[in-house]
Amino acid sequence: MSLFRLLIAAHCALLLSAQPRPYEIFRTPSPIQIDGKLDEPAWQQAPSVGDFQFPWFESGTREQTVAKLLWDDNYLYVSWQAQDKHISAYVTERHGPVSKDDCVEIFLSPNPAKVRNYYTFEINAIGAMLNRNRADWWTGPPTWEPEGMLYRTSFHGLPKKDEDPTDNGWIVEAAIPLKNFARDAAHTPPHEGDQWRLNLQRLGGRTNAQLSSWASFPPGVRSFHTPEVFRPVLFRHHPPTANVASAETILAGREIYNRSCTMCHGPDGAAGDRGPALAARRRYLRTTEQQLFEAIKQGIPGTLMPSSPLPEADVWKMVAFIRSLRATAFETPVSGNPAAGESVFLGKGRCSTCHMVNGRGGLVGPDLSNIGAERSLRYLTEALTTPRPHIPPGFQPVDVVTTAGQRLRGTLKNEHNFSLQILDHAGALHLLTRDEVRTITYGTRSPMPTDFDKTLTRPEFDNVVAYLSRLARQPDAPRANRRRP
Ligand code: HEC
Ligand code: HEC
Repeated sequence: MSLFRLLIAAHCALLLSAQPRPYEIFRTPSPIQIDGKLDEPAWQQAPSVGDFQFPWFESGTREQTVAKLLWDDNYLYVSWQAQDKHISAYVTERHGPVSKDDCVEIFLSPNPAKVRNYYTFEINAIGAMLNRNRADWWTGPPTWEPEGMLYRTSFHGLPKKDEDPTDNGWIVEAAIPLKNFARDAAHTPPHEGDQWRLNLQRLGGRTNAQLSSWASFPPGVRSFHTPEVFRPVLFRHHPPTANVASAETILAGREIYNRSCTMCHGPDGAAGDRGPALAARRRYLRTTEQQLFEAIKQGIPGTLMPSSPLPEADVWKMVAFIRSLRATAFETPVSGNPAAGESVFLGKGRCSTCHMVNGRGGLVGPDLSNIGAERSLRYLTEALTTPRPHIPPGFQPVDVVTTAGQRLRGTLKNEHNFSLQILDHAGALHLLTRDEVRTITYGTRSPMPTDFDKTLTRPEFDNVVAYLSRLARQPDAPRANRRRP
């Protein structure tokens, strides 16, 4: 056995004794568009794998990478957000030496019992890729053509990228078809709890050429091609629950905020005399944690908003508090099980007789396909338990008798000076002019039942709320026919 293999074997023994906790790859609840932007809620909710190590560090700036993974029946999704003030890339040819450039990599072993059967994806900042198949059954050339791979980088397709004083970071977003691993993986698509092993890496290009990696390496080992160090990952069939701050942090942030900020903003994030509401339903200028942090720490130039002398840890607590005020249901951890909730939605709760989700269901109530991204968890719970003071427009129940003696019962969808539109209980739409109407009686109660806390068991209720909270479309998907007709 070579010294190299010996070292690896020793390190593996060590690793086995102190196995890192496997990273959980959650199933994405909504489609991901491979556009080199990570703006889908699913990416925002997915946990990062954690800090990269700099195993062979000598000097320079350690620039971090935030890497995340998700999956669905067809793809393994990978994203890298590289902090980088020195971005350069020159290799454009397929299978060229991209690791000489600013470059990210994923090496993966779909069979944890045979980690040496691994597959490599190396992508530089301008989108050139190199792939290898290191499986024992592979008899093809040294490079490999994965089928159906989709990916985009921040500088995708540029003929070259020179370092620039405005450089700050770059992104790679990739969808790797799972079918490429069918020979080594236990199942395609993976089953709940299936384990793979993998490593994520980064190379720094010509300037600040740092090498960094998710997995750590034993001393003396200087190659990324060391599958023995790859870290375990587990496939989870449920979507990520938000990695939002703990209730304790949020409370602490609220206290600091109420002590330090209410001479301008209102208490608990409401509007104040000299500062806007931080929680109201509006389009916020600053949405990410980083933007909020900077606004509070440095102030907002040209406005009354001052910089804060508070320690950074306190500022982060206030950021957690403000985020909690704004969080949609989708961004909030839930205790119920969304899959079990779907059965309640379609079955015992009879929700789908009135509500449409992704094109299936009734028209009496609003389409709920995106409700998790539009409402807070509290709003959803209240919708199921508390009648609203007013019936919202478009859902008013009516009972009409026409001059011809016909009786129509249903929902008033539109009402103008000279006409009305009624959706009857059978789902047919009636257009009536005023002079066709003899009497019209407005119902005083919404058709929406609000006693689900009594008609459903506690677990059924929690599960249906969990299901609603995970209904979220991709942000830029077309919103056809949200309120019909
Ligand atoms: C002297 C008055 C004043 C004080 C004190 C103050 N703010 Fe502000 N704050 C403002 C004003 C005015 C704005 C709106 C700035 C603008 O027009 O963009 C603002 C904006 C903000 C925003 C950005 C909102 C958004 O979405 O764009 C945040 C976050 C914020 N304040 C948090 C705080 C916190 C936390 C504190 C306490 C540490 C604080 N502010 C103290 C006046 C104040
Ligand atoms: C008989 C028809 C009917 C049934 C059954 C029904 N709903 Fe509704 N629902 C409505 C109507 C109509 C509205 C709109 C009027 C209102 O909010 O009162 C509504 C409103 C809602 C809202 C608020 C939507 C928003 O954007 O404000 C939610 C959430 C909701 N329903 C969920 C459910 C769930 C979950 C179930 C089953 C457990 C269910 N509904 C069963 C008719 C129904």
